[in-house]
Amino acid sequence: PQQPNPADLDRVAVAALTRVADGMILGLGTGRAAEAFIRKLGERVRRGMRVQAVATSERSAALAHRESIEVLLLDQVDRIDVAFDGADEVAPDLSLTKGLGGALLRERVVAYDAERFVVLVTPEKLVERLGTRTPIPIEVVPFASPSAARHLQKLGGKPVVRKDAAGLPYRTDNHNWILDTDFGPIDDPAALDARLRRIPGLVDNGLFLKMASVVLVGDEGAVRELRR
Ligand code: A5P
Repeated sequence: PQQPNPADLDRVAVAALTRVADGMILGLGTGRAAEAFIRKLGERVRRGMRVQAVATSERSAALAHRESIEVLLLDQVDRIDVAFDGADEVAPDLSLTKGLGGALLRERVVAYDAERFVVLVTPEKLVERLGTRTPIPIEVVPFASPSAARHLQKLGGKPVVRKDAAGLPYRTDNHNWILDTDFGPIDDPAALDARLRRIPGLVDNGLFLKMASVVLVGDEGAVRELRR
């Protein structure tokens, strides 16, 4: 798929910062948009803004540390005020697909826990139907992967085990595998999500339905705000 323009990501990250206030506990997403946000947040923190954060991946936690942002574990916070993250697709009702970066499970935990969930994208992520641009990443317990793959095929999907650079099954931060599963454009994401959740050993899937509070779209110099 088309690559996001880094200048648009920076602009959308700066726009997202207007939703951050001193004393907040933030959720930090994973991927290019989330990393642009973490870098811009780091600039503010080094100029005196006081925030704490929970990260959705080891990679984002490491970046946040380097950016002087205080990173806590979930058991060290009593709430998350706002979570900021990217997405792979955004549908007109602000349903999303996520997980091409492999962090979908922790991303959902943090987004669900947060008071508000702000999504940062560039315009190529906007689709009419989920499943148009990308397969649905599905996190599975390795033991269950072969049977989960058969059940995904029965639902009309084409599952492929994600591989790492060495050609071995990619491991998530939770030590699970990912089956990238192409369903084509999805007519009824809620029905598919419900069916997926009945498959044993399937830990999570990349459909984030009606979770976003707002989507910020960075587009050639301007930032548009999409609301449900
Ligand atoms: C990470 O697991 C994903 O859900 C990302 O949020 C998503 O892939 C968006 O990443 P980019 O901002 O890099 O496109």
